[in-house]
Amino acid sequence: MTRTVRFHEVGGPEVLRLEDVDPGEPGPGEVRIRVEAIGVNRAEVLFRSGRYIEPVRRLPSGLGSEAAGVIEAVGPEVAGFEAGQAVSVVPAFSYNDYGMYAERAIAPASALLHRPDGVDAISGAAVWMPYLTAYGAMVEVGGMRAGDVAVVNAASSSVGLAAIHTAGRLGATPVAVTRTRAKRLRLVEEGAAEVIVSDEEDVAERVLELTGGRGAEYVFDAVAGPGVTELARAVAAGGTLLLWGAQSGLPTPYPGFELGMPALNLRTYTVHEITRDPVRMRRAAAFVASGLRAGAFRAVVDRVFPLEEIAEAHRHMESNAQFGKIVVTV
Ligand SMILES: NC(=O)c1ccc[n+]([C@@H]2O[C@H](COP(=O)([O-])OP(=O)(O)OC[C@H]3O[C@@H](n4cnc5c(N)ncnc54)[C@H](OP(=O)(O)O)[C@@H]3O)[C@@H](O)[C@H]2O)c1
Repeated sequence: MTRTVRFHEVGGPEVLRLEDVDPGEPGPGEVRIRVEAIGVNRAEVLFRSGRYIEPVRRLPSGLGSEAAGVIEAVGPEVAGFEAGQAVSVVPAFSYNDYGMYAERAIAPASALLHRPDGVDAISGAAVWMPYLTAYGAMVEVGGMRAGDVAVVNAASSSVGLAAIHTAGRLGATPVAVTRTRAKRLRLVEEGAAEVIVSDEEDVAERVLELTGGRGAEYVFDAVAGPGVTELARAVAAGGTLLLWGAQSGLPTPYPGFELGMPALNLRTYTVHEITRDPVRMRRAAAFVASGLRAGAFRAVVDRVFPLEEIAEAHRHMESNAQFGKIVVTV
């Protein structure tokens, strides 16, 4: 038996319970890992509360798609991994099928990456999802190049910070958007060329000013909702507004007619476009590993909670006070 976080009903953080569950033996294409650290994701808060892009299909349900640990057992038909190896699990599967919030958990081998030398468990649980998400959106899907301007909304989120680092590494210009002035200085320290405080400034006006009236080639938005109309005004002709989250929780208008039908590419995206495609995944992992080796990429960890305080970790995420990644250690 192993301590596992489960919930028996959808709801607030209080529905999360630590229970003794038999993780079982890994089946074909699976491994069992001894979990050392877990990366907490917004998607888990949404799934737990029944607001995710995928419904909870059965109860009780597990949770968690990102972790670092050591392989304990390997099932049949697994190549390239063996017991004793330090690995990271990245989001590549449904919460309805696997859950990493546990002391020991079954994971599909297709979601594993070898943990590079020098990457500890906390970083190993915190570093992949943000950079894989940002790289996939910016490079694989977006085609961003040196000299482009990339506006990043919800910039203090773990994905936002990875997007700032990724743009910088590619020679693009990252412009961070955050709601409050409190996080401004830290965003500059993380490499933002400019920071726009959306509670105080008109985002589109500022972007147009910063780009000599051209607009940004890319706007990456984790907020969605009514604010996309303003963000769309910040996009250069032929540029892209890519939505990778929906923090606002509000319906999102299509910013077309009222803006004069601009030459705007509007795209939604999830990291599964990368992590469920072995070829894209290989390129993305190589890009992130190279950034880690060069010291350009690192886990920006906001707070670490013990597994017993998983509900507290979710409450902290929902406070939106964080700067970077929330991690749980086992
Ligand atoms: N598409 C994908 O595959 C994918 C993968 C991973 C994550 N995501 C999405 O990316 C986003 C960030 O995820 P995360 O886990 O890195 O970070 P997170 O910790 O959930 O992000 C929190 C930040 O989002 C901003 N925010 C929260 N609520 C907001 C609201 N109502 N209006 C405006 N901004 C708000 C705040 O930034 P400021 O204080 O700076 O404003 C806050 O610090 C989430 O929306 C998540 O669902 C998408």
